[in-house]
Amino acid sequence: MPVSYNESCRVFRLDTMNTTYLIGIVGKENFLGQIYYGPAVPDDDMRFLMRLEDRPWTPDSNPRERASFYDAFPFEYPAWGGGSFREPCLRVQDAAGGGNCELFYESHTILPGKPALTGLPAAYGTPEQCDTLEIICRDPILQLRVSLLYTVFRDSDVICRSVHIKNDGDTPLSLTAVLSASLELDNMDFDVITLHGSWAREREMDRRPLAHGKQEAFSLRGISSHQYHPFLALCEHTATQEQGLAYGMSFVYSGNFLAQAELDQFEKVRAVMGIHPDGFCWYLEPGEVFQAPEVLLVCSENGLGGMSRAYHDLLRNHLIRGQQKHRPTLLNSWEACYFDFDHDKLLELGQEAAKSGIEMLVVDDGWFGQRYNETTSLGDWYVNEAKLPGGLKRLGDELNELGVKLGIWMEPEMISPDSNLYRTHPDYAMTLPSRAPTLARNQLILDLTRKEVRDCVYSQIAAVLRSAPIVYLKWDMNRPLTDLYSSALPRERQGEVYHRYMLGVYELQERLVTDFPDLLLENCCSGGGRFDAGMLYYSPQIWTSDNGEAIDRLSIQEATALAYPFSSMGAHVTCCPCHINGRITPFVTRGQVSIPGCFGYELDISKLTAEERAMIPAQLEAYLLYGPIFHMGDYYRLASCTKNHSYDAVMAVSKDKSQAAVLYVQVISRAYRRSLRLLLNGLDGNARYRECKSGETRSGAAWMHGGLLLKDVQADFHSELIVLERVEI
Ligand code: GLA
Repeated sequence: MPVSYNESCRVFRLDTMNTTYLIGIVGKENFLGQIYYGPAVPDDDMRFLMRLEDRPWTPDSNPRERASFYDAFPFEYPAWGGGSFREPCLRVQDAAGGGNCELFYESHTILPGKPALTGLPAAYGTPEQCDTLEIICRDPILQLRVSLLYTVFRDSDVICRSVHIKNDGDTPLSLTAVLSASLELDNMDFDVITLHGSWAREREMDRRPLAHGKQEAFSLRGISSHQYHPFLALCEHTATQEQGLAYGMSFVYSGNFLAQAELDQFEKVRAVMGIHPDGFCWYLEPGEVFQAPEVLLVCSENGLGGMSRAYHDLLRNHLIRGQQKHRPTLLNSWEACYFDFDHDKLLELGQEAAKSGIEMLVVDDGWFGQRYNETTSLGDWYVNEAKLPGGLKRLGDELNELGVKLGIWMEPEMISPDSNLYRTHPDYAMTLPSRAPTLARNQLILDLTRKEVRDCVYSQIAAVLRSAPIVYLKWDMNRPLTDLYSSALPRERQGEVYHRYMLGVYELQERLVTDFPDLLLENCCSGGGRFDAGMLYYSPQIWTSDNGEAIDRLSIQEATALAYPFSSMGAHVTCCPCHINGRITPFVTRGQVSIPGCFGYELDISKLTAEERAMIPAQLEAYLLYGPIFHMGDYYRLASCTKNHSYDAVMAVSKDKSQAAVLYVQVISRAYRRSLRLLLNGLDGNARYRECKSGETRSGAAWMHGGLLLKDVQADFHSELIVLERVEI
């Protein structure tokens, strides 16, 4: 039973494959406390961990110190008020303006399966796969009903948490903070890991000792963002890639977020995650409900690698829809020609693709309206016939004749001030009354909180997709949200705009994947500015970064793989010298670094040397053969260039352990170095494996404990793709 309740000690237990999470009902008033989250334990009654006996602080025994109780109690879902000085998950303003909220356990149910979260992306599962615990708490004064939802999958080490709030009273309330999950842990000499970055430098890993006070990652840009990431890990300071305790929190949401860990006066850690309270205020009329997005919790005893593998499996098996869809190899027009193309140029690229065996041509930005540059036409989603006479239909048909599929780019959430859409409906843009709008990349955001605006964009997208044989859509989003205001909402609801915008985006993508079930959707946000589990619910792959340069990609892919499988990472061979950082890297390395992800090319093939062009069919073959090991297999990080400043190695082992692939990159060569010994991982120790190129055959144990010797090569940016296959003994 993954979910159970022990009436005698009033403890709920959630059991994943290898972990236990215990929640207790405490005292006469029925406070709900978090007792334990960690490696599996058989005991239900671990209430000693709440330290209620340390001081006579429970309200039952000492009403005089109620505030001190609030200050120390490990609340399962902490609300603001009554001495709750740490970061709360819930803040409520009542009709009179008061701000206290006290939640007490009321009832619970254990449901087979997992209820959907209305309007939001979330993990899914059948009654055979998972059970859900719903604990209902109430503030009896506010008549606020708070349902805490926990889903446990039988085949996973992830716990999915979310919160549903209802105003059962008869006066309106304002929710000024609704976070989705909170953890209460004893500090075990923790390090905290967050991801930070910028455009073209997404997701660099920051690992540092947890200090007293609050450490956080957040976004207030309306997107999960390039700058920080909706993910936070706490791990023992001594934890390594494969050993030690690690906790992860990952948010299934794509807008503003707060991920925070606080070490307090009692050496306790509170880690919270949810929609960022800044700019958030949800007005709840009597009878109305608010559903908070989901947080995915992991606890692993096998270091960061164990945590990552738990996330990869959960996302692939229970969250990403379309995971099983074929991901065609593609040639994208963006770095090949930017806005400068016409029908003939695209057809020429298509012919090159056909010759090399690339499956699809993606027509990126520039095929619509008067889009000759980035100042114009977002919102005018009809073909520029001057560039593409006969439209996408003619191009698609001609490509199909060559055996090449057609994909396109769109940026549906945007409107250019210089567009027919803006001239007709200036009010569709999100702007503040009586203030000049704040441009970014020359564009404004559509007010997707409004149904008529969503309908207008959707009908345009659907018409384009129906007009031509389009099998793939790259959905881009190229600016942060500013000027938050919706002309359709009253003053007291303006604090809902950020979240309502996200709900609008989700609704649009839901319509799209429902109406066009065969379409492959790839999300993008100036590269990886909205690479999150929320978007993965709609699109099985996301453009990882505009920076496709192989060496920079190593660290981007490493940190992305902390929480997401390689099958979700768009990875293309891009121009050289790289348009973003100017680096010159070998074509072989650019190909091999892209093979673990969703493979493609983003350059003008006709400008490659004959030698490079000749390598393309072999690269495509390698992707078809070994890409699936990375996409679907177990992930092991063997070495990180960000730590050793010299080389990088990542490995994947197929689920049946019959195949393994290692991507090794010598980033900087070292003079007079002996061959490098790389210990492999994840193999069956008793089976025998043959390294495909050399034919060397050894036991899995020998590959893992003896290792693989990599010869010294006198070159920077040198890469090798090493494949092992199990052989019958
Ligand atoms: C963004 C994307 C790029 C490309 C351009 C087109 O920057 O990340 O891949 O599509 O937009 O304008």
